[in-house]
Amino acid sequence: MMSQTNSHSTRSESMAAESVKPMSEIIAAALDRRSFLQVSVTGACAAVMTSWGPGAIAAASPVDDSNDLFRFSNIPVSQSDQVVVPAGYKAEVLFRWGDPINGQHPVFKTDASNSAAEQALQGGMGHDGMEYFALPSGDANSRGILCINHEYTDQILLFSDGIEPLPPTPMPLEKIRKSQAAHGISVIEVAGDKQGRWQVLDSPYCRRITANTPMRMTGPGIILTGDSVLGTLNNCAAGRTPWGTYLTCEENFQGVFGTANESFTPNLEQERYGLTAKGYVYKIDGQEISGYRWWEADSRFDLSRPDCDADRFGYVVEIDPLRPDSKPVKRTALGRFRHENAELTLAKDGRVVVYMGDDQVNEFIYKYVSQRPYETQRTSEFGIDATGGLLDQGVLYAARFDETGRGVWLPLSDSGMTPELVAVYSRIAASRVGATPMDRPEWLAVHPQTGEVFASLTNNSKRTEVNAANPRANNIYGHILRWQEDGNDAAAIEFSWHLFLMAGNPAQAEPTRHGNVSGDSFACPDGLKFDDSGILWIQTDMSSSVMGNADFVELGNNMMLAADPASGQVRRFLTGPKGCEITGNTMTPDRKTMFINIQHPGEPADEVNDPLQPNQYSQWPDGPAGGRPRSATIVVRRSDGQTVGT
Ligand code: FEO
Ligand code: CA
Ligand code: CA
Repeated sequence: MMSQTNSHSTRSESMAAESVKPMSEIIAAALDRRSFLQVSVTGACAAVMTSWGPGAIAAASPVDDSNDLFRFSNIPVSQSDQVVVPAGYKAEVLFRWGDPINGQHPVFKTDASNSAAEQALQGGMGHDGMEYFALPSGDANSRGILCINHEYTDQILLFSDGIEPLPPTPMPLEKIRKSQAAHGISVIEVAGDKQGRWQVLDSPYCRRITANTPMRMTGPGIILTGDSVLGTLNNCAAGRTPWGTYLTCEENFQGVFGTANESFTPNLEQERYGLTAKGYVYKIDGQEISGYRWWEADSRFDLSRPDCDADRFGYVVEIDPLRPDSKPVKRTALGRFRHENAELTLAKDGRVVVYMGDDQVNEFIYKYVSQRPYETQRTSEFGIDATGGLLDQGVLYAARFDETGRGVWLPLSDSGMTPELVAVYSRIAASRVGATPMDRPEWLAVHPQTGEVFASLTNNSKRTEVNAANPRANNIYGHILRWQEDGNDAAAIEFSWHLFLMAGNPAQAEPTRHGNVSGDSFACPDGLKFDDSGILWIQTDMSSSVMGNADFVELGNNMMLAADPASGQVRRFLTGPKGCEITGNTMTPDRKTMFINIQHPGEPADEVNDPLQPNQYSQWPDGPAGGRPRSATIVVRRSDGQTVGT
């Protein structure tokens, strides 16, 4: 099946950019209308930066001329407990789990003894998707807002005594509230100085959105769910809109629902969404122990209750970073599944198109197309309340990839299900219309010049029956697909697709395991994002259960790489500390500052940490005095202050 791969295609070079507008242009135009952008051209940074975080490497020249698109020197794989970046680059820790969102207080306690109330004012755990937004005034390249997702909590590292007390003693409500407060989103204001050093500011915009923040629900699903809910959870990857809002995507919500009611059995819909009595479990001494147990003191997470909140999670949630008092909105029209990211672009006629993946083995890739166009000339349309149903009224499709290299977007309305059922049980509708089961779709990314779409399929060791777009059985290394919509129009209902890269480990002799990557190898692509220059940034998530084992040992820790869509060339840019994944990727408009997230440093192979030795697998980012490893946002810049990557 590897013969079907089509690496190193040059077709994107020859494709006319036609009318696909770069996202930066749309956002800049929208921002301009509110006079938000006053970009300084004098923002060049001094070459010397001091006190960078652990692992940073700086050397003489950042330039490698062997590729026109990216021009940095590659770095080797790493098994060290640090962040490593290329020669001529620096990386600094900016915002960790437990850091106060106003940059001041409450301070993080290294024994994890902060209360739930304190946690609700500090960065959450599990930093993931992230976007940078310009402020209403000032230099957009040195001051802005970061919206940062917190995907999940390591329940053992979150508390001084781990997950004690064990059942049958119920989980205390204070612990549940702390875990809920460590989920969600941090909205922080950040600023860089002339030396390129960034810090978190005390700001009217700073805000935590947690599992208990009141939010609205809109779209066809509310016939079933009602129009309000508390909180957002398991916020994985993200997206942004041309009207200045942040999209946060709810992924593994099934892990926090469960029940102690022994007569409970999941119904068919719950089964399809992986909802079980135990939720996420740790395997400790051969026993399965529920990690969250929120249902023991917060009944809306109890699956045996008919009014439980399970159908109110699994959505794309819209947040207005410039209106801290606005309620976030769950957009049910974009479907309910284990949402990874939400990549938004505009069709030729201005309709809003959102590409989305459902990260579970043999689930699907989706596309939403709004009913009416985004009218960029209407200056009033900016912010969360002004978009009049663009993300509420539209058509939701799932993708079918045919052997011929062609593909079709199948409207879920053809499933025979009502609009509200399509919105809330989208997976079932997508199965009914015959979508192609994929190898765990993670992020999707639209090329800013060609409009071509790229999708990471991270892995699927459970695949036995292959298809053309998922051609490897037991696909432990994953791959990246690409497609062009017919007429180069994002709203088209058919497309042509190719395999872009088959990830692998070149140390493996077997051809299907070798992969076909030209340049630096990697496995388990997850984060996928274009910058405005057209570099495709790839971030990996080899799970801690496989990192370092016989199939993966030569690949080291998780990493970030740059790919050239035209040549297929791949170059390693960053490697992370032990046990982490690399995720979240956003830049200032001048691309001189890049923000990256390091998630779950120190996660052991069985995911079971030890509260008595929290530092045993990683001491990143704070070293031995830090108490425990912490997810964190880092800042990556060139020492000479020039554009990152190029
Ligand atoms: Fe949250 Fe599928 O990664
Ligand atoms: Ca991911
Ligand atoms: Ca992943």
